[in-house]
Amino acid sequence: NQIVAIVPAAGVGKRMQSKVPKQYIEIAGKTVLQHTVEKLAQIAKINKIIVAVSKDDPYISEIKPELPAKVVLTQGGAERADSVLAGLNCLDVNEYPWALVHDAARPCVRADDIRKLIDHVLQNQQGAILAAPVRDTIKLSNAAQKVEKTVDRSALWHALTPQMFATGLLQHALQKHLQDGCMITDEASAMELSGHPVHLIEGAMSNIKITRPEDLEIAEMFISRVL
Ligand code: C5P
Repeated sequence: NQIVAIVPAAGVGKRMQSKVPKQYIEIAGKTVLQHTVEKLAQIAKINKIIVAVSKDDPYISEIKPELPAKVVLTQGGAERADSVLAGLNCLDVNEYPWALVHDAARPCVRADDIRKLIDHVLQNQQGAILAAPVRDTIKLSNAAQKVEKTVDRSALWHALTPQMFATGLLQHALQKHLQDGCMITDEASAMELSGHPVHLIEGAMSNIKITRPEDLEIAEMFISRVL
């Protein structure tokens, strides 16, 4: 079973208030992207890692020589889903029947959680995502930022990455729903819209997506200890 990892890394990180996109911010001596890609490269079952970077990315050439040998680069697109699709479009589906998509901005993922996801998918031959049950009480807000109601959280999960699916099915689902103008914020949303099953595999909540400035400190804490 050949598994390809696709890493969307073509975002500009608007919410980060930093000149440098978040995947290129340094934590503990390396960029966020390097931490992320090195974590994926540790997994023996991942044979190739495609990193989608934006057109005219001025930062990638500097770190390229230090990236693991499994890494190849491609050009991303306007939205995250376009970047993932660009990565999938570089592949021979027969050679890589399974694709595992992981955000560049999630360097703190545990290698054991990635292995757990891969084992589950290969055993069941159906797609799955890392996810975590919602811990907090959840409020639905109205337009004036006042509580409309409290939502039952018992069946709610945070969708994390990696997310792993059959390469051909994912490619088809992303293509179709992007064309239809649907809101696709992760791979699972496209697969759900196509009616494919998506299993939830519980992963650690330390697998945060670096989004806002305060997330950097948290990520540094998780990265500096043995994950
Ligand atoms: O912006 P957001 O936090 O949802 O981005 C998640 C991941 O998708 C990041 O790693 C970002 O670099 C990537 N992305 C991308 N292409 C885009 C937008 C975001 O590869 N056009």
